This record gives sequence, C-alpha cells and structure tokens, in this order.
Amino acid sequence: MSAEYENDFEYDFESRIVSSTFSESEDSENEPTLRPRTLDEYIGQEKAKENLKIYINAARNRGEVLDHVLLYGPPGLGKTTLSAIIANEMGVNIRVTSGPAIEKGGDLVALLTNLGENDILFIDEIHRLPKAVEEILYPAMEDYVVDLIIGKGPAARSIPLSLSKFTLIGATTRAGQISTPLRDRFGVVLKLELYTVEELATIVTRSAGILNIPIDAYGAREIAARSRGTPRIANRLLKRVRDFAQVKGNGTIDRAIADYALNRLEIDALGLDAVDRRMLEVIIKFYGGGPVGLETLAATVGEEAITIEDVYEPYLMQIGFLSRTPRGRCATRLAYEHLGIPFTDTTAVGQQIDIFSTGQDGEQ
Ligand code: ADE
Repeated sequence: MSAEYENDFEYDFESRIVSSTFSESEDSENEPTLRPRTLDEYIGQEKAKENLKIYINAARNRGEVLDHVLLYGPPGLGKTTLSAIIANEMGVNIRVTSGPAIEKGGDLVALLTNLGENDILFIDEIHRLPKAVEEILYPAMEDYVVDLIIGKGPAARSIPLSLSKFTLIGATTRAGQISTPLRDRFGVVLKLELYTVEELATIVTRSAGILNIPIDAYGAREIAARSRGTPRIANRLLKRVRDFAQVKGNGTIDRAIADYALNRLEIDALGLDAVDRRMLEVIIKFYGGGPVGLETLAATVGEEAITIEDVYEPYLMQIGFLSRTPRGRCATRLAYEHLGIPFTDTTAVGQQIDIFSTGQDGEQ
C-alpha cells in the first residue's frame, strides 16, 4: 500500500468536510484548496452532477449505501474531487487508494475490512488493479463479503468474512480497459467530459477569488481558452500567469498579461503545447498527414503511447485537429491551418503518391 496515497486524503469527521492534501501539483501546503466541496460548488459536468444528485438524495432518504460508481474520462477533469464531494454529500468517510498501489490481495482485504458502514473506497486508476486483486472485489462489491484463505496447499480453507456495506468509486482514464465483470458491477457509470471555455473561465474566476488574485473577465477567459478543457491545467496556468502579472505587470491578470505569460510558456492560442504541436507536425511532415499507427507516432514523438492516448489525443480530437481511424491517426485540415502548413488531403484519396513519401506507416 503506497504511503503516498494513504496520506493523500484527510477527512474531517466533525464537519464532514473533505480537506484535500492531495499530492497533485495544484495543491500546495500554504494555499487554500481550490477543490469544491459540494456539488453546488462544483462547476460543469452538468449531466453527471444532476444524475449524481438524484442517486445521492435517493440513497440518503432510504438510509442505504450508495451504489458503486465508475467515473471515467481524461485526466485532470475532477474524478478525485468528485469522489470527495460524493463522500461529503453522503456524510460518510472516504479512503483513497489507487490500482497500482494495491499489489496483493491482502492489501485490498485490509482496506475493505477497515471500512465503516456506508463508507467509500476510492480506487484511482482502477484499470491497473492486478487481476488477482480484482477478483476479490467481485464478491465484495456484490455481497459485501471477502473470502479469507487460511493455510496453504490441501489444508487451505476459505472463510467468508462479511464487510460493512460500502460504496466503491472507481476512476479510470480508460473505461475500455476495465474487464467486463468489473464494469458490470458498477451500478452508476459516469463519463466526465472536457470542460467548455465558459465553464473553465468560471472555475478560473472562482480559483482567483480563493487565492486573492486580481483578475478581470478577459484575463480569465484567455486562461480558460488555453487550458485544453481541463480544470487542473486552468488552475496551474492561473498560478503561473499570476507570477507574470506580479513581476511584469501591475498584479492584475487581464487579457494582455495572460496572453504574454502564456506565450512565454509556449502555450498557443488554442492551448496546444510543444508536444501537441510536435505530434501534429510529425503526422503531417513524416507521415503525409496520416494515417500513422499509435506506436509509431509515440516512438517518433518520444512519448509513451498511453500518454498520447490519455493526455494529448482527447483534446486534439475535441477541437477537430486529429482523427482516429482503424488504420491510425490522421491530422485534419484544421490542424494544417493552425500550424500554417498547406493542406494536402492524403486520407480521402488514399496514400499520397510522391517521391518524398516515407511509406513508414508502421503497424497498419
Ligand atoms: N476546481 C477544479 N475543478 C473544479 C470544478 N469542476 N468546479 C469548481 N472548481 C474546480
């Protein structure tokens, strides 16, 4: 069990308020938390939020445990925050851990047997749970029981041990990688979407208020528009832009200083960073605009394939710069235009036939 995760999260039993001392970069020791604590404070994800409100209300009114919840979507959208809010709204305790931190069945059994009635166990990156550990979860989720194996070999005995009723909240960036038996045991499955610029601007303004950073609506909007649909990025950029506003400006974040700061950070008008641009350039210049296979692209860009899939692609697809086809990734006309490269359509009319074509389409 990783100490990092175990200590990540503190719960104040008196006020039922989650205090976040997460190890994520946006929280620091000496700053107030930016994390919302109630569903009403939580901006965006309206569909997920409205449904959750109903499930929470219904469970509370019945005096029952909340059904197991699976949250999925790209990183930085607030899956951990939302879990803490669910615990707060349900008035229960939450234990936070992650798939890779639970190495052995015993780790999970220890966590489960320590849960109180209706408590929440939050498992981040649940798709990375070892298979043997995952199988312990099935009866635990379904019947609130685990089988303890005592002894070894032919003398081994299995003793069923009942657990308190609990809610498992699983979070993953990739719902497709969760095994069907596990996925089927979640009663509530919520997909978190990238945020709109308006939602992010509201979040930036809220965060600036909490951190006492003077900001106007245009400054907030500039940061929001360049945050790739992700609150974690918006809050991080807000803090960096604040530094520039203090040192290079008059302390207030307006559009001009936000633009200046974000340019200095090499974040362009649409929020693309150096890696995003390199990815698109590689597809266009090395592979004739695509299709190029994920592994080939990853090797050429020098990033892990999983990072490209989870971190870079969702936003590039959302803004229509990248398409995924069965034969690989393609850059769209919009991507060419953004990078100022003349568009040649190689995808609609088949492979580009020119002497510069590398023909290195990797695994397709
Ligand atoms: N800070 C980070 N994510 C947030 C959200 N969804 N609503 C309000 N503040 C946030």
